Amino acid sequence: MPEAEFVVVANRLPVDRVPGAHGDDVWRRSPGGLVTALEPVMKKADGAWVGWAGGADLDLEPFEFDGTVLVPVRLSAEDIELYYEGMSNDTFWPLYHDVIAAPRYRRVWWDSYERVNRRFAEAAAEVAAPGATVWVQDYQLQLVPKMLRELRPDLTIGYFHHIPFPAYGLYSQLPWRKQVLEGLLGADVIGFQRVADAGNFARAVRRLFRYETRASGVNVPQPDGTTHTALAKAFPISIDAESYVELARRPEVQQRAADIRRELGNPRKILLGVDRLDYTKGIRHRLKAFGELLEDGEINVEDVTLVQVASPSRERVEAYMQLRDEIELTVGRTNGDFDTMGHTAIRYLHNSYPREEMAALFLAADVMLVTALRDGMNLVAKEYVAARTDNRGVLVLSEFAGAADELTSAVRINPHDIDGMKESIMRAIDMPAAEQGKRMRALRKKVRENDVAKWSESFLSALADARTMRNARSAKR
Ligand code: G6P
Repeated sequence: MPEAEFVVVANRLPVDRVPGAHGDDVWRRSPGGLVTALEPVMKKADGAWVGWAGGADLDLEPFEFDGTVLVPVRLSAEDIELYYEGMSNDTFWPLYHDVIAAPRYRRVWWDSYERVNRRFAEAAAEVAAPGATVWVQDYQLQLVPKMLRELRPDLTIGYFHHIPFPAYGLYSQLPWRKQVLEGLLGADVIGFQRVADAGNFARAVRRLFRYETRASGVNVPQPDGTTHTALAKAFPISIDAESYVELARRPEVQQRAADIRRELGNPRKILLGVDRLDYTKGIRHRLKAFGELLEDGEINVEDVTLVQVASPSRERVEAYMQLRDEIELTVGRTNGDFDTMGHTAIRYLHNSYPREEMAALFLAADVMLVTALRDGMNLVAKEYVAARTDNRGVLVLSEFAGAADELTSAVRINPHDIDGMKESIMRAIDMPAAEQGKRMRALRKKVRENDVAKWSESFLSALADARTMRNARSAKR
């Protein structure tokens, strides 16, 4: 196995298996910001990426893809059920998103989570060169930093938490609350989306361990009497903004946007929602507000259409099945009540689409609705803004999405306040072009300045500083 100076460890590999031209399967790069952001770093640094290839019981050897070594971690059908669907997505996901759905605490899930985290840590330990940098990603792998530090004390370890970190009153429900914090504290740098997430984490550490925290550093006493300092700080993630600018400027994308408007019957205004079909996204609240506006006669289907793209997600987890039923019932009822032969109230698409189609949809949409009840960041909000090279369109943004910290020129909403949301949607629909332009220009400046390359650079430079400090300390000893 080759040795890598830079290793990313994530639940998923950055590739998807898709049917090839000759009846066999081929690998295709997954869409998504993280993959794009890390590509240059991976290439420059002889990088390796440790992750699950998707699918059960796949025995795959490490292979090279686009200049990066991919190291597949095998998950059995049982691992998928207990570690991925269970502990990751039926315990941590709802708990960390403010218990919008009830988290379930099952000991067999936890045992599997520990086992699978160890497998990821061992795979990373095996592929990392002496003194390498390892960057662990997200809530599926919270125990990996500590496991890795024990296996390989020579490594510099970063961890980035893509989802929220909840207030202590909720976090403390977790039967394994101490083990998880210990797992994370194995890292040199622990990155969060919002300042509030980093604050919640630091408070949990103080409450459960009474460790000293100074500025953003947590001092963790080690068994050998030394102290390990973990930096816990916000590094808000972003997108490859220029790639959306480039897409939006393509004539064929602009043509497609015009076609979409025509296919929808040329309504005066198109509203758009784009989400993974997840209960954190506030899709039901959005549909409720929209349905009431139709009912009140504030809008009608000739005039205003809502396009809701809901991409399939975690379809074997009960809460997701239930949500899908609820949403599809609401869409069916609303359309049944308000559709005419030529116009629909809600065009609902349970599917995911390539980036070109998404860019066209962004260009076609007069109003983008991001109504998350809780969201680590919400990159769709940033994608919409990046694509609006014409400085038109209105972003309606929930204050419970991480993006609200930066995108302060959006129309801000509380999705629990249905009346407030209805007013904001009407305000967005009726917003004069001059105000749209002023807000959109301010939003675009933020998104283009703080793109995903900047995000990875600032995290990795904090990690490099941590390494320098650690080396200086061990040289003194
Ligand atoms: C969120 C998480 C990611 C996860 C993605 C898709 O964005 O933060 O870690 O990969 O959802 O979910 P999935 O369960 O399909 O990987």
